[in-house]
Amino acid sequence: MDWARVRADFPILERTVHGKPLVYLDSAATSQKPRPVVRAVCDYYERLNANVHRGAYQLSEEATEAYEGARTRMARFLHASDPSEVVFVRGATEAINVVATSLSRERLKSGGRVVTTVMEHHSNIVPWQLLRADRGLAVDFVDIDEDGRLDLADLDRKLARRPDLVTVTYVSNVLGTVNPIRSIAEKVHAAGSLLLVDAAQAVPHRRVDVQALGADLLVFSGHKMLGPTGIGVLWARRSLLDTLPPALGGGEMIREVHQDRVAFRDPPAKFEAGTPNIAGAIGLAAAADYLDALGWEAIAEHEQRMLTRAVRRAQEDFPGRLTTYGPPPGSDREAVFAFAVDGVHAHDVASIVDAQGVAIRSGQHCAGPLMDRLKVSALSRASPYIYNSEADIDRLFDALGEVVRIFAGHERRAPVAG
Ligand SMILES: Cc1ncc(COP(=O)(O)O)c(C=O)c1O
Repeated sequence: MDWARVRADFPILERTVHGKPLVYLDSAATSQKPRPVVRAVCDYYERLNANVHRGAYQLSEEATEAYEGARTRMARFLHASDPSEVVFVRGATEAINVVATSLSRERLKSGGRVVTTVMEHHSNIVPWQLLRADRGLAVDFVDIDEDGRLDLADLDRKLARRPDLVTVTYVSNVLGTVNPIRSIAEKVHAAGSLLLVDAAQAVPHRRVDVQALGADLLVFSGHKMLGPTGIGVLWARRSLLDTLPPALGGGEMIREVHQDRVAFRDPPAKFEAGTPNIAGAIGLAAAADYLDALGWEAIAEHEQRMLTRAVRRAQEDFPGRLTTYGPPPGSDREAVFAFAVDGVHAHDVASIVDAQGVAIRSGQHCAGPLMDRLKVSALSRASPYIYNSEADIDRLFDALGEVVRIFAGHERRAPVAG
């Protein structure tokens, strides 16, 4: 694979910041977009723009065809058994809120129990906490072990309480841990519960086959997998979508409305109230084309090489000075590289490396319970993607050398400053 040619598809990477060539290492927050995705969105607005499922005129029919074509493409991306299992939403956050709201109208109407984990993003914690406040829902958190892997014995203990739903991230956005979804699904189903998977950090990096995984519901955002912002997917088994009540009400999702009654359309329309993000769905389908064409094995190999280099340079360049988190590189670890520089706040780390042109994330990473569990207030995080290279990892570590030099000076001056 010619990764330099892949990089050349991303126009933004040609720009400079602070007079230095940009090294973008914050793809876990959002990925950059290749030309074919940008082109697909522009092309839609230039040639096809009309509302979908409404007009009896050619333009609207063409827009509808393109939108439904994007759904079929995403069903193939996920190996879903039918396009009607793919609901377009704004992103992972909206998808989880849709599931929570829908369940609160039916099986979690008077409480119930949900199991989540300490490694979840806030988007897979707060919706359940809202239901805890509204409906008295019990919310249990599965712990992690010292390597940052899910504690499966703790999951068994939580399953013994017969929860209604278990919800777990496929890949941690901080630790990079890849959770064993297939075996979790077996345990969860044996306990008579439903399994919801947050695949926001998985779909950019690995083939996600919903039938092989065995989950009941799975959600993700498009913008982390080269797609536009404001589009994502809620996938669920069709039999489940048939029984779940809608979360949002409005146009597009109804069969008929009278003053005294309303009837909903079949899924996925039942869950897509209002005008959807048509251009976003078309751009997302173009992103799926781009990733599938690269090939998932090549992507994994490239990303593992960058992760391995980061871990090695952390050990060699900063022994005892840089703490890293998550399992070692391997099949259950994605290339998300969270770290702490001893004695330096994560925000200082990020702004010093930014001055060298390197963009990384710092802070809590929308994972407050995980920060509590790790007993840290904030971490730095580098998250490379297909357009990065080992040279970019080297640029990060050269910049981290600058961080350590600056703060070594501070430490020496500190006693003088009193
Ligand atoms: C694991 C995980 N889940 C959910 C989300 C939320 O995604 P969005 O903000 O696109 O809805 C993120 C975003 O960082 C994430 O990393």
